[in-house]
Amino acid sequence: MNNKILKLSTIGLVISAICTAAFAGEQLDPRSEQYQKKFPKQYNTWKKTIEQDKKIDEVKENPNLAVLWAGYAFSRDYDTPRGHQYAVTDLRGTLRVGSPDADHKDLQPMACWSCKGPDVPRMITEQGEDGFFSEKWSAAGSEIVNTIGCQDCHEPGSSKLRVSRPFAQRAMDKIGKNWDDASRTDKKAMVCGQCHVEYYFEKETKKAAFPWDNGVDTDSVEEFFDSIEFVDWTHQISKTPMLKAQHPDYETWSSGVHGQNDVTCIDCHMPKITNAKGRKFTDHQVGNPFDRFEVGCANCHEQSKEQMLAVVANRQAMINELKDWVETQLVHAHYEAGAAIKAGATAAELKPIQDDIRHSQWRWDHATASHGIAMHNPEEALRVLGTAIDLSADARVKLARLLGEKGVKQPVAIPDISTKEKAQKAIGLDMDKLEAEKATFSETVLPAWDKEAEERQAKYDK
Ligand code: HEC
Ligand code: HEC
Ligand code: HEC
Ligand code: HEC
Repeated sequence: MNNKILKLSTIGLVISAICTAAFAGEQLDPRSEQYQKKFPKQYNTWKKTIEQDKKIDEVKENPNLAVLWAGYAFSRDYDTPRGHQYAVTDLRGTLRVGSPDADHKDLQPMACWSCKGPDVPRMITEQGEDGFFSEKWSAAGSEIVNTIGCQDCHEPGSSKLRVSRPFAQRAMDKIGKNWDDASRTDKKAMVCGQCHVEYYFEKETKKAAFPWDNGVDTDSVEEFFDSIEFVDWTHQISKTPMLKAQHPDYETWSSGVHGQNDVTCIDCHMPKITNAKGRKFTDHQVGNPFDRFEVGCANCHEQSKEQMLAVVANRQAMINELKDWVETQLVHAHYEAGAAIKAGATAAELKPIQDDIRHSQWRWDHATASHGIAMHNPEEALRVLGTAIDLSADARVKLARLLGEKGVKQPVAIPDISTKEKAQKAIGLDMDKLEAEKATFSETVLPAWDKEAEERQAKYDK
């Protein structure tokens, strides 16, 4: 090879190396702000989810929750979801992740960030899933700072949809939703389904995974968790090995009337709209479809908004009625099992009772933890809640017999849990301490994370 050719080919290599680096840089820059100029309509509507700033303190509304989740971080706080712009803020702010700093340990694994923004796929690309999931939650405090954005649902720089989390796609593969073969309709639900699902953290590795080996419905998932003896936590009062359901929106939607008719999340939550210049585009302000009834529901239905609101409110009321019954039964069952334990009940005597409690509470949670259930699939919620009532009644029949045998006076008294404060006190939570620790964490740790993130992200601008 003569020198000239060698020189030229070296220059070629250098140029291609620079291009690859620049391309990889763009690929990995997770910030949604970079698309503001290129896709202003989508960017500006995406940004507007900041207007959805209200959240409801569910434990305050319903103090039973503190008892049902006793011994688990959910008993500290649990709020309704709000706009996508708040995902990182709200995770940092919840008492469920604790206040990890020099004095306080991490409560949660890395997997807790999994559905909070495009830094997650970035880090998985950089570190692999093994690397990413190996650390504790706070190790990524300065890394996961961009809220749910473009690259969670799109290929970087493009409008092409994607499932950006490999663990989500593996689960989708199991239920026959291979990405390349999926229809455009399937894909539109799958992008939401990568986060709006029931998930769990694998026992040893703490990797995020979906429990879909046997199917996605409540019964199949329960069967799967039982088969791997999965336990989210041991209940503080009844010592039951419990399961916690998250938000199975994708699963419950898929078997509902709209899911069965190929009406996807997008048709209702991200309808096509027209701007002042007459350009049609997808409204990226993911929120309550009733706020945009005319461009969503009204595309397919002739009823008025008032009629439809009444239909959904009526279903919500029916669901709430059954939900309240299960909760009351379960609260009593936990305290009765606790009394049986104090009276010396054996593990063998408790096992069938705890099985009923575990399954009843799982069913109650899976049927209602998805906040859109009254709209997405009310029939399924009512069916599953019916089985939950049955199981909790079974537990209490068995408990009455066992308590009788042990000579425990019935009814077993339960403490005053009529307010959030009283219920949290009854299960021994020191909320003042937890909140004071959080305040210190917010004042000292968070600014340090943000500063580090700013310096790190500045390299993308070069
Ligand atoms: C939660 C998922 C999600 C997020 C986040 C998201 N998109 Fe989209 N985007 C979609 C869906 C779904 C469509 C509609 C696809 C279809 O109709 O086939 C879409 C469509 C688009 C289109 C095609 C034109 C149109 O309006 O239909 C563009 C461009 C686009 N998005 C840009 C963006 C940008 C820029 C961001 C970030 C500021 C973003 N998207 C964030 C899901 C998302
Ligand atoms: C990267 C994960 C992720 C993806 C993808 C995602 N979401 Fe979300 N979504 C969340 C999280 C987390 C919250 C709660 C944010 C909070 O409360 O701080 C949320 C909140 C919501 C809310 C509540 C909004 C409000 O104002 O109360 C709706 C509705 C919603 N998402 C629908 C969707 C739909 C529809 C899609 C698909 C187009 C989607 N999401 C895609 C993670 C995701
Ligand atoms: C037929 C229309 C429709 C479809 C399809 C649909 N949704 Fe919804 N969704 C709604 C409506 C309406 C509400 C609000 C119900 C209410 O106010 O009680 C809602 C509520 C929600 C909520 C709770 C929001 C909150 O702040 O409490 C989430 C999350 C959600 N939907 C996600 C999804 C996801 C993910 C999909 C697809 C897997 C989906 N939805 C499919 C209409 C729909
Ligand atoms: C893309 C079309 C489409 C959109 C958008 C849509 N629906 Fe539907 N809806 C359907 C179809 C199809 C059915 C099933 C009709 C049947 O089986 O007769 C249905 C059924 C229903 C039913 C009766 C079935 C049941 O028991 O749930 C209600 C109520 C309903 N939709 C409410 C809504 C509301 C509220 C919205 C907006 C948040 C909405 N739909 C958005 C297509 C749509």
